Amino acid sequence: MTESLTVRDNRTGKDYELEITDGTIRAADLKQIAVDGQPGLATYDPGFVNTSSCRSAITYIDGEAGILEYRGYPIEQLAESSTYLEVAYLLLNGELPTTDQLAEWTHEVTYHTFVHENLKQFIQGFRYDAHPMAMLMAGVSALSTFYPEAVQIDDAENRQLQITRMIAKMPTLGAFAFRHQQGKPYIYPDNGLSYTANFLAMLFKMSEPEYKADPRLVQALEVLFILHADHEQNASANAVRAVGSTEVDPYSAVAAGIAALYGPLHGGANEAVLRMLRRIGSTDNIPGFIEGVKAGKERLMGFGHRVYKNYDPRAKIIKKACDDVFEVTGVNPLLKIARELEKIALEDEYFVSRKLYPNVDFYSGLIYEALQFPPEMFTVLFAIPRTSGWLAQWSELITDPEQKIARPKQIYTGHRTREFVPIGQR
Ligand code: CMC
Repeated sequence: MTESLTVRDNRTGKDYELEITDGTIRAADLKQIAVDGQPGLATYDPGFVNTSSCRSAITYIDGEAGILEYRGYPIEQLAESSTYLEVAYLLLNGELPTTDQLAEWTHEVTYHTFVHENLKQFIQGFRYDAHPMAMLMAGVSALSTFYPEAVQIDDAENRQLQITRMIAKMPTLGAFAFRHQQGKPYIYPDNGLSYTANFLAMLFKMSEPEYKADPRLVQALEVLFILHADHEQNASANAVRAVGSTEVDPYSAVAAGIAALYGPLHGGANEAVLRMLRRIGSTDNIPGFIEGVKAGKERLMGFGHRVYKNYDPRAKIIKKACDDVFEVTGVNPLLKIARELEKIALEDEYFVSRKLYPNVDFYSGLIYEALQFPPEMFTVLFAIPRTSGWLAQWSELITDPEQKIARPKQIYTGHRTREFVPIGQR
């Protein structure tokens, strides 16, 4: 043992030496700490606030310093110089692709963008006002029925095929869900376009023979996709890993990730930011609003983060992307309020002392709104790029010999062994 922890059990007076590896002890090592006849010691950690569930080499975050890296590459450099598909390759394979590898990967993904016609009918079966995220979740789950061989998760080639399919079909399903909600005909993929340009075409094309999105908007979406591609062990990645640990097919595991992302505590904050900015209405009302936040009446949405205790590096990049988008779409009047709000909050002792900085959601909703997305689409726009992160996490899990089925313990607080009472006597 190079590093260790000595623990004294004051119930028995016994000392135990536990090995420390990578700044952690193994929860299973605590089992040996037991009082006669009782089960050994365990840990209690709702929300996994201080429990590592895996070893991972995908994404590194230093929240205090505001650092985010995919496979060791800083997010700023990837957002500046890369494309989403290049980043997806990096997350999935561990290295940036060569020119040939990127060309092949792009070809593979492009080749798989179409979905089975029955899947189109499946989406058509939803009510006119169905939430697009629920349609996406159901659509991904339904994909497993079209590719039953996906259950062969021990076959690396087969895994790769399902990964390619899912990354390729996600924008198609997301766009079909959007068009369905709008009552517009679904648009088939245009494989002559890039990943993001094709997505925009499937969303917005009407009768024109060819839809050409403004390249500045395509680039802004590319950046947003890169920023959302992975974020280590967040709630949805954890859902994918927990469900994937049962050795179910990857479509079902990713559907679980979409379900987790659907929740307002995970994917829904940017919509709340927009509502807040609209409610503030004008920069004159900001001081009064800030006072309300400081008095604990409400939260400044889009500020603060469980991990980042510094400016979220993604927020900085998104703030810059705002300028490019608004150059095309015209400025969203809420941007002025957002910028002023940020300025005031960053100088205020309340926010400074609590290390509350803008997070990824502070500006992303403004961009999505400028791109004409209704708020229900915001989480879909998150789920599409996050699929590469989920699948990278899933692949790592499947090939990790240390992983087991995710099955936590509980502290039982209920009744014990009671006599059944017939219904007439209750
Ligand atoms: N506005 C005002 N006060 C805040 C805020 C906020 N947005 N966030 C935290 N605080 C205060 C909080 O009241 C507490 O103060 P005190 O110590 O006086 O009680 C202190 O700061 C610490 O807050 P916490 O709730 O313990 O922090 P947390 O790590 O549990 O919560 C958070 C993180 C993101 C849930 C929280 O900051 C929040 O609710 N922010 C607004 C919602 C939001 O923007 N969510 C998006 C997160 S980024 C999405 C992603 O990465 O996927």
